[in-house]
Amino acid sequence: MEQLIQQLKSQQNLPDEALQILIAHEGDDAPLFAAADEVRKERYGIDVFLRGLIEFTNICKNDCYYCGIRRSNAQAERYRLTPEEILSSCENGYQMGFRTFVLQGGEDPYYTDDAVCSLVEQIKAKYPDCAVTLSIGEKPRSSYQAYFDAGADRYLLRHETASNAHYRKLHPPELRLANRKRCLYDLKDIGFQVGAGFMVGSPGQTTRELIADLRFLQELKPDMIGIGPFIPHHQTPFAHEKQGTLELTLRMLSILRLMFPYALLPATTALGTISPIGRELGLKAGANVMMPNLTPIRAKKHYDLYDNKICMDEEAAKCHVCLEGRVRTSGYRVVSDRGDVRR
Ligand code: 5AD
Ligand code: FES
Repeated sequence: MEQLIQQLKSQQNLPDEALQILIAHEGDDAPLFAAADEVRKERYGIDVFLRGLIEFTNICKNDCYYCGIRRSNAQAERYRLTPEEILSSCENGYQMGFRTFVLQGGEDPYYTDDAVCSLVEQIKAKYPDCAVTLSIGEKPRSSYQAYFDAGADRYLLRHETASNAHYRKLHPPELRLANRKRCLYDLKDIGFQVGAGFMVGSPGQTTRELIADLRFLQELKPDMIGIGPFIPHHQTPFAHEKQGTLELTLRMLSILRLMFPYALLPATTALGTISPIGRELGLKAGANVMMPNLTPIRAKKHYDLYDNKICMDEEAAKCHVCLEGRVRTSGYRVVSDRGDVRR
């Protein structure tokens, strides 16, 4: 095991059979975490970057089988933030030291390209020292270009799974892995810093699918890689599926750190949801980003992607204090910085 870890660390790559062993490893993962932490510290020191997440709409035209805000969930209480609410969330975050704002939402046709561009322009005008990240799904290339021209810096779009057959199990027929990939390559080509990623332990996922994810990421070379455990939502077709495990998610984080030393890797809210110390363990396994929520409470309660999501009733300021403490006691420090990738 130790030999495989050292090989992955020095070469950032391994044959499938060796990756398979690392991914499926049962037993003490401390040596893997330690190697990942070493690589992370060489590149990023003990810095942890914060992204202020603004979940500005939970209305979505898509129907992904895993997601609580899928269009078929008639019980979801739908909301949209007004531009004023979005801007005041940014102001709140700026005061707390955030230098990246992530506008995330369902694929909500109400927000036309012009509306998105106008939001981006207003935020960039008011906070020229901040990065603006969009996470609003699959769009034509021309839309992405318009967002970029309006000043957006980054775009998050998880590929969810790089296996076609597995993609079919997670999504209705109108959604295609090929289009997802097209979006990611367009975004990169336009000049965005790009984030991809996948859920760990989603229904039907095996080690083989995880290796396909790693191979796809080697090809795409995204700046950020967001992973978190799959967690069932009770009003979806996957209500009774098993959730992804803490152990596998942490191992995947470490493997990603070793394969992509430069990458921005968030310790995600989903990881914090399956274990009270999930995010701390994520940091120690190689993660270097956290994405606290700036969405006003009245809305964020309804951004319900999976069951038991944490921090649904906490003010942003409370989460900020809480997170700083968690980062510090894990041996890292929160920095007030855009947190650009270090290639
Ligand atoms: N469990 C965990 N993660 C989920 N996501 C959506 N639904 C779930 C779920 N049930 C993730 C997807 C999406 C991101 C915004 O949230 O990977 O890209
Ligand atoms: Fe929200 Fe701890 S991060 S309460």
